[in-house]
Amino acid sequence: MDKLESFHQDVLRGLKDHPKWLQPKYFYDDNGAALFQRIMEMPAYYLTACELEIFRDKTVELAEVLHVQQEPFDLIELGAGDAMKSSFLLEHLLREQADFTYMPIDICGEVLLTLRDRLNRDLPNLEVVPLHGEYLDMLREATEQSDRRKIVLFLGSNIGNMELEDAHGFCRTVNRRLKRGDTMLTGFDLQKNPHTILEAYNDKEGITAAFNLNLLERINRELDADFNISAFQHYQTYDPIDGGCRSYLVSGTAQKVNIGGEVISFEANEPIAVEVSRKYTPLEIDQMAIETGFAPLAQIADSKNWFVDAIWQVN
Ligand SMILES: C[S@@+](CC[C@H](N)C(=O)[O-])C[C@H]1O[C@@H](n2cnc3c(N)ncnc32)[C@H](O)[C@@H]1O
Repeated sequence: MDKLESFHQDVLRGLKDHPKWLQPKYFYDDNGAALFQRIMEMPAYYLTACELEIFRDKTVELAEVLHVQQEPFDLIELGAGDAMKSSFLLEHLLREQADFTYMPIDICGEVLLTLRDRLNRDLPNLEVVPLHGEYLDMLREATEQSDRRKIVLFLGSNIGNMELEDAHGFCRTVNRRLKRGDTMLTGFDLQKNPHTILEAYNDKEGITAAFNLNLLERINRELDADFNISAFQHYQTYDPIDGGCRSYLVSGTAQKVNIGGEVISFEANEPIAVEVSRKYTPLEIDQMAIETGFAPLAQIADSKNWFVDAIWQVN
């Protein structure tokens, strides 16, 4: 099945279900990627600043725990985006003359092209092999390309965009694709003051709303649909008990939407679940490592203790 056909099937499956849902991986067309860049620049979206601080100020500690000096390796980044944070590590590794290839994986082709051009310009000695596609498919491809030791980066709290059970399943699959001694570094957003969390996903300028609504615009553009975008509203919640910060698009009125010939009915105030951004406790993070076949090596936090990069090794 080609990418457009999978998109079509996934959209119809989610919108025919009850309650309705859409997969967040489809946020990232060119417009979505540009809107996400603007989210990362918002002061309220603290996640980027926290993880950037870790990569900027604790680069040596990260590199030590990742055991980068041992032997040649592939540094694989899942959902690399603009690789702004990982660039601190890349520069450090080049200075240390580490023998490695950087393999950024992203579902958005435009993002990867921009990244490759920037890295070729800013870090000309870096060997870059971009892989365009889904995290796990491209991880398989990366592991099939060479036998070298693997270090996997999964930043930005992207793991938070999976429900707990799915995150465990994901880590188990990553674990199976890797070999004993390989390492994985994952960014986790920690549970904190619920107001701080909610404000990060509910900005008054409406950038997060535009990012979420772009998903409906993308469906209109690519799947020949007729969503009336102004008839939907972004709605955000955070549950400090289960750590789930959830985004919904709510239909303002009863309406029918045609998607490539199929009609989907919405009731007034009916929500579409579009994204979860789960917040973790340090204990949950170590438990996830142990239950999915890894040994937790370290949790490296920012100065506010709002975010950690957890480093795990394959048992
Ligand atoms: C939230 S951004 C984070 C970017 C970067 N890792 C950071 O922390 O700044 C997510 C990135 O992952 C990519 N992405 C989202 N879902 C993906 C998937 N299922 N497979 C591969 N890439 C994906 C998006 O295109 C986007 O560039």
